[in-house]
Amino acid sequence: MSAAVDAAREIAPGAGPATTRLIEAQMRAFPEHEAALRKRFALADADPIFCETLAGMIERIAGETLAAVCDDYRWLAGAVLEEELFFRREGRYRLTSFAEAEALVYADAAYMTRYMNGLLLSQLWWANHTAVLAWFRDRYLPANRPGARHLEVGPGHGLFLHLAASDARTSEATGWDVSPASLDQVRHTFAALGKAPPPLSLVNLFEPSPEQFDSICFSEVLEHLETPAKALARVHDLLAPGGRAFINAPVNSPAPDHITLFSTPEAIVELVSGAGLVVEELLLAPSTGASLERARKFALAISTVIIARRAD
Ligand SMILES: C[S@@+](CC[C@H](N)C(=O)[O-])C[C@H]1O[C@@H](n2cnc3c(N)ncnc32)[C@H](O)[C@@H]1O
Repeated sequence: MSAAVDAAREIAPGAGPATTRLIEAQMRAFPEHEAALRKRFALADADPIFCETLAGMIERIAGETLAAVCDDYRWLAGAVLEEELFFRREGRYRLTSFAEAEALVYADAAYMTRYMNGLLLSQLWWANHTAVLAWFRDRYLPANRPGARHLEVGPGHGLFLHLAASDARTSEATGWDVSPASLDQVRHTFAALGKAPPPLSLVNLFEPSPEQFDSICFSEVLEHLETPAKALARVHDLLAPGGRAFINAPVNSPAPDHITLFSTPEAIVELVSGAGLVVEELLLAPSTGASLERARKFALAISTVIIARRAD
């Protein structure tokens, strides 16, 4: 048996077969990540049933390219580390404009594909990402009204959109993204998971649209934008009266295309309320292994997730 297989079984002894296979593949591509994976799977909240479902989905999406996808995660971890070093030195994110992020990331198909592959694996390897996805499936979607029309802005790798489109309460799902490569990834995710893709459009959130939705997923996009207050006002206007939004943005989370730095979860909650949305529920998920107290003290990433409603 290879060292990667031995290590995978030790890293997550209670894990199911798909999770173990993914850890093995990741260890082959990125053996230096062993300590991080050990820390992640030692957590009491690493629910093995959800992790196994997620691992099974990721395995099917990656298919025969699993080794390359694991390599893309390794690349992403390196890119994020570089941004993290900049953030610690300068106290800000490196990019300051959407135009820069668009040119460097969204419009570069090869870069974007790597990025979204890395982000796909981060859904399992980063405890805060897993917690957010589980909350979306188990807490947000079940409270949608039957027949809900659902929009995701910035679906990226497509996992959230696939969960929403598969939910019995969703009558129609659709995705808008500024990156053609992201939309291709979403199509691939749906095909790999055996579901026809929903309508997907190359649309910037800020483009005017007369459409309205009962449910909007807006996850890990707010920090990519120069004018987050305007973005939330758009989300408000895109919701039908009584409609709900799942808004997820991280604080202190440098990445190659992050522009707006939120320093506290409260700053994000305030922006959401300021857009006229009623904040109904809040989840704070600190980065892997950190308590909320430690994350606040040392300016570590905290995924800040808000379930909000348009009241009028
Ligand atoms: C980090 S990914 C988020 C993927 C997924 N929603 C998640 O939470 O993991 C950000 C996505 O937002 C898209 N995006 C960035 N700015 C956007 C805008 N103004 N309008 C629509 N999509 C945008 C990017 O192209 C990318 O696919």
